[in-house]
Amino acid sequence: MPYHKFDVVIVGAGGAGLMTAMQLSHNSSVAVISKLYPTRSHTGAAQGGVAAALGNIEEDHWKWHMFDTVKGGDYLSDQDAAEVLAREAIEAVYDLEHWGLPFNRTPEGKIDQRRFGGHTRNFGEGPVRRSCYAADRTGHMILQTMYQQSIKNQVRFFNEYLLLDLIISDGRACGVTALCLRDGTIHTFHAKTIVFATGGYGRAWRITSNAIACTGDGMAVAYRRGIPLEDMEMYQFHPTGLYKIGILLSEAARGEGAYLLNNEGERFCVRYAPTMEELAPRDMVSRFINQEVREGRGIDGKDYVYLSVVHLGKQKIDEKLPDITDFARNYLQVEPYSEPIPVQPTAHYAMGGIPTNVEGQVVVDEKNTVLPGFYAVGECACVSVHGANRLGTNSLVDLIAFGRRAGQHIAKKWLPEAELAPLPADADAFSMELVERLLTNTSGGTEGPIRQQLRDDMMEKVGVVRTDAGLEEMRAELVDLKERYAAIHLMDRSRTFNTELMEVIELGNLLDCAEATVAGAVARKESRGAHYREDYQTRDDANFLRHTLAYHTDKPGYPNLRYKPVVITEFQPKERKY
Ligand code: FUM
Repeated sequence: MPYHKFDVVIVGAGGAGLMTAMQLSHNSSVAVISKLYPTRSHTGAAQGGVAAALGNIEEDHWKWHMFDTVKGGDYLSDQDAAEVLAREAIEAVYDLEHWGLPFNRTPEGKIDQRRFGGHTRNFGEGPVRRSCYAADRTGHMILQTMYQQSIKNQVRFFNEYLLLDLIISDGRACGVTALCLRDGTIHTFHAKTIVFATGGYGRAWRITSNAIACTGDGMAVAYRRGIPLEDMEMYQFHPTGLYKIGILLSEAARGEGAYLLNNEGERFCVRYAPTMEELAPRDMVSRFINQEVREGRGIDGKDYVYLSVVHLGKQKIDEKLPDITDFARNYLQVEPYSEPIPVQPTAHYAMGGIPTNVEGQVVVDEKNTVLPGFYAVGECACVSVHGANRLGTNSLVDLIAFGRRAGQHIAKKWLPEAELAPLPADADAFSMELVERLLTNTSGGTEGPIRQQLRDDMMEKVGVVRTDAGLEEMRAELVDLKERYAAIHLMDRSRTFNTELMEVIELGNLLDCAEATVAGAVARKESRGAHYREDYQTRDDANFLRHTLAYHTDKPGYPNLRYKPVVITEFQPKERKY
């Protein structure tokens, strides 16, 4: 079987993976494995900006940013991580500027900054301009800039390779296996350091802003290898997805002054959040929309409201929001210059994931024991900086701040001491068996109905509002779906660019991520951030100010749940008011 050896193997070519690679390529051999061509990674879909307290337009401080992150996360954020994010955001953004990222500029030539939900001045007094942006295509610009820099810096890319397994030997991570989609061969990558930067799993829901590739591959692979998944019940819905389609319409629209309107033409957010209005954190705005719909104030009595940019005028729309207004034209045949855009909450972002410390090292228990040689960064990781709800623009900054930090830790602290652990004799056995079984099984159902049922039911039962009954129903369905999945049958048996094989492996990953999400959500009998329980409507710090760790077991639907404390350094939990 094809074998490759590197100092560092990074799985995932989005912003986090490339930022990590950039710190390492000068002094070590680095490979980036990606199931996509790198510039198709989902970072490219991030629109509104990257938060950093540069203070270019008005006074701002990294500590205000830290506070907003913790409060926005409903106090489940680890505050040591929130401090790192807010402090190091500033240098990371300047790195991007120096690598050529075409940010929007102020008249004096500084990076321009706009408002975004939950970002405030002076610990909550009112909105602040903190989001650095490139129109409404900031993620696209980050991805293009970093890919160009990675090529220039000799990073080696393995494009269109799907992650299959993580290899652990003698208590150290020392490799991965991956399926080469072009010819169906299984490759073994042997390295001193493995970094997962594999993104989120929004495709587990029917209405999602996530690209088709967001199937939780790294999370599921780690989970099956005994690494817990942290706080998976904390899954965020972005308030403004295109109605019925889910494609993101950036919060930047509201940052630039757009309104959300109900069927009475009322700006309903003003009623719920008198200080921040449409710029309250997105878990809240999603719930405001949900409430309007339930009380009969959705448009035409349906499950959507309007986002209106009409009053911003053509010039501002074209300058600041060109892409999202084109999405409205192209997908819904709505003209945003003159008509409001139908929107609904869309599954957007995993606050949970593979647990790490602030250096990006994966930790495996409540004592934060490090698994040597294994790092995770970006959406697949849970550091945990976003707690129970991420603020808009804190995702791009998470990628670059923690990607940078992990890369520097690997370069300075880990690699100088690390030795290459030998591969176990059966390193690729699991992967070979998996692929052969899928390609040869002749009975059972196909993947389409399993995928559809998963996505429909997650939408209905694990959405903006949850109940015990709905979550338990979902758990029972997952048990059934996993049983059907175990006997799945492929129609395409070829080894050459077999997209059905890829999709089936991805579906298995989604099922595992959903399992950890649902189990964590059943057990968390409180409402906090994005996890809103109709049957437990208040936050319960006495019992649930803690992180969930879900460990895979042989009993489908029932991971073993353990808990670890939240790191609180400066900000004691308080009620969230906006
Ligand atoms: O609304 C947005 O542009 C999304 C940004 C984010 O998720 O950080």
